[in-house]
Parts: sequence; structure tokens; C-alpha cells
Amino acid sequence: MKKVQEHYDAVADIYDDRYDRKRGSSYHAHISAQVMRRLPADAEMLDLGCGTGLFVQRYTQNGGRAVGLDISPRMVGKARRRCPESEFLVGTADVLPFCDETFSALASLLAFSYLPDPAAMLRESFRVLRPGGRIAICTLGRNVFTSVVPIIYRIGEKVGLLKVGMGDFGERYYSEREMIALLADAGFVEVQANRCSFAHLNLIDPLYDLAKRVEPFIEEKIPYLAYNVCASGKKPD
Ligand SMILES: C[S@@+](CC[C@H](N)C(=O)[O-])C[C@H]1O[C@@H](n2cnc3c(N)ncnc32)[C@H](O)[C@@H]1O
Repeated sequence: MKKVQEHYDAVADIYDDRYDRKRGSSYHAHISAQVMRRLPADAEMLDLGCGTGLFVQRYTQNGGRAVGLDISPRMVGKARRRCPESEFLVGTADVLPFCDETFSALASLLAFSYLPDPAAMLRESFRVLRPGGRIAICTLGRNVFTSVVPIIYRIGEKVGLLKVGMGDFGERYYSEREMIALLADAGFVEVQANRCSFAHLNLIDPLYDLAKRVEPFIEEKIPYLAYNVCASGKKPD
């Protein structure tokens, strides 16, 4: 986890160039919308692996209140500047510094793949959610495209590229079935998982435009080709 933390500390200044500008912003808005519609809108929400606060900002603009937690102090520093009205803590998602039944919603975007012990994160999420509270996680899914990502990242690290997320972190990519099993094992009910995202930020312009146009079709009809998994569940009442 130290390596992930050091990486995100190193890229904190360039993170928003990737996800909060132009097509990065459209990509992030797309996955945020998928997560948002699985959560109550006006609740007290905890965002695990909150990064620079992109989702906290969207959630609070939508009428909710939010707390963010991230392992990288420099990402948390950025989040505090982005959302001065929200609270942010430095910490790891599998040991949460909150009392039982504190939140009604829990989100995690693009962070779950880094967790060495995903079951511990889900146990802790279950504990800090109130009865009836909802969880939604968007993470890179396993498919034909993402199976080559670790190789590209390893090469990127070897040649010293400083790019967001690029490194050999032992990341894990999940199928819908694995996400459903993890959430159900943690005690969540009404568990479901769907694929989303086909237009990747790194595509060249004409390909990106085409991928964006066919994205709704892919998500509905050929979901295996979509590269994120969005999984959700509810803590029983
Ligand atoms: C790709 S960024 C996503 C940030 C944010 N959720 C977003 O959507 O922009 C991954 C984030 O997960 C954080 N992270 C990785 N492992 C973590 C852990 N064990 N506990 C908390 N945060 C973690 C990283 O520091 C980084 O900020």
C-alpha cells in the first residue's frame, strides 16, 4: 500500500489534468452518474479512495453531504481545496476511523482494484453504514482489454513514466460475479453489478468519438466489452 500511496502523492498535481479536463471530465462524469444513481441523493456519504474529491464535489452539488478518505496525503490536500465544506481524512479503506452506523451511503470510484484485502474494506463499509444504507463501487473490470493493462503499467514503470495510475501495484480487476460474491459475503443484500464505460481517455480522437457514440449500445448489448464494473448493494434494514 505504501507504493500506491507514494505514487498518488507523486501524481497529485497532475491527477486533475487527466480526470477533470475535457474527455477525462466526461469519462469521470459518466462513472459518477452510474455510482450516484445507486445511492440516496441527500444522504451523509463516505467516499473511500476519494482522490482529489471529484465525486465528493458532484455528490454535494447534488444536495448530499460527504466525507472523503484516501491513503495519499497529497490527494487529500487537493480534495480539501476543491471541497472546503467537506471533511477529508488520510487513511486506508480497510480500517475505517468511524463509529458503527455513521453513514447512509458509501461510494468508491477507481480505487477498489488497489486494495490488497477487499473483503476487509467491505466489512468496514458494512459496519459504518446505517441499516438500509447503500454502497456503490466502480472499479476496473476484467476483460480482454484490461488483461493487458498490468503489462503496459509494468513497462511504463520500468521506463520511468510518471502517469496517473501507471505502476506495478498488483492491482486486481474483477468480474461482475466476483463483485457480487464479495458484496454478498460482507452481508449486503439487493446486490447487483453491471459493466460501464467503453470510450477510453487514451484513445486517439476519431476512435474516442466513435467509442463514445457506441458506448450506450455496448453497455446494454455487449457489456463484456465495457471495462468498468459498477457494483452496489444495501445493508439490511
Ligand atoms: C485512480 S484514483 C481515484 C480517485 C477518485 N476516487 C476519483 O474517482 O477520481 C485511486 C485513489 O485510490 C487511493 N487509494 C489506493 N489505495 C487505497 C487504500 N488502501 N485506502 C484508501 N485510498 C486508497 C489512491 O490514493 C488514489 O487517490
